[in-house]
Amino acid sequence: MRKVDTERWCAAGALILMACWFPFHAAGQATRDEGGRYYADNGEPTYHIAQDGQVDWFTFSGYRRYHAQCHMCHGPDGEGSTFAPPLLAPMKTMDYATFRHIVIHGLRTVGPAQQRVMRAMGEDRNVMCHLPDIYVYLKARADGVLGRLRPNNHQPKSEAAALDDAACLGSQ
Ligand code: HEC
Repeated sequence: MRKVDTERWCAAGALILMACWFPFHAAGQATRDEGGRYYADNGEPTYHIAQDGQVDWFTFSGYRRYHAQCHMCHGPDGEGSTFAPPLLAPMKTMDYATFRHIVIHGLRTVGPAQQRVMRAMGEDRNVMCHLPDIYVYLKARADGVLGRLRPNNHQPKSEAAALDDAACLGSQ
């Protein structure tokens, strides 16, 4: 009898723990902050959106870079166009390594019915210097936590981020 009670309490306790834990660890939500860059438990780069809606600097940077480098094909906000498929559905599950590989090497599907070609951008520093930023922006869009508009409420750019940019872009 006592044992059954204990099991019941444990089951209830586990449910309460899960209920509390899940909302804060929803897909992609950050758990580690390294100098303004956020990472999920599994080490993947991710976004951070504060209670008041303020996004981290890199998610904002990703918004800008996406609209400079990718949106002419993938459409505003990753929703797709006649040139290229939407990115929101695939980005729900795509890890950073796969994403990086596609952008560096490009992707093509050439068949009798259709030709879809994305050029390799591994040599383009305007893309590569900001690739994690574009990734976390698209993740936030794919997870449905960031709207279509420019996220003007964002953290300021840190000195470290400015130095990183200068070092990466300056070595062209
Ligand atoms: C010149 C047009 C063009 C530009 C610019 C472009 N892409 Fe693409 N992209 C495509 C096409 C076309 C495909 C589909 C290729 C295929 O199906 O084989 C694609 C596919 C992808 C995929 C794979 C989607 C999936 O369903 O698995 C990713 C990720 C991606 N692009 C990211 C980006 C990012 C990030 C940028 C900007 C840095 C970018 N693309 C810029 C045309 C473009």
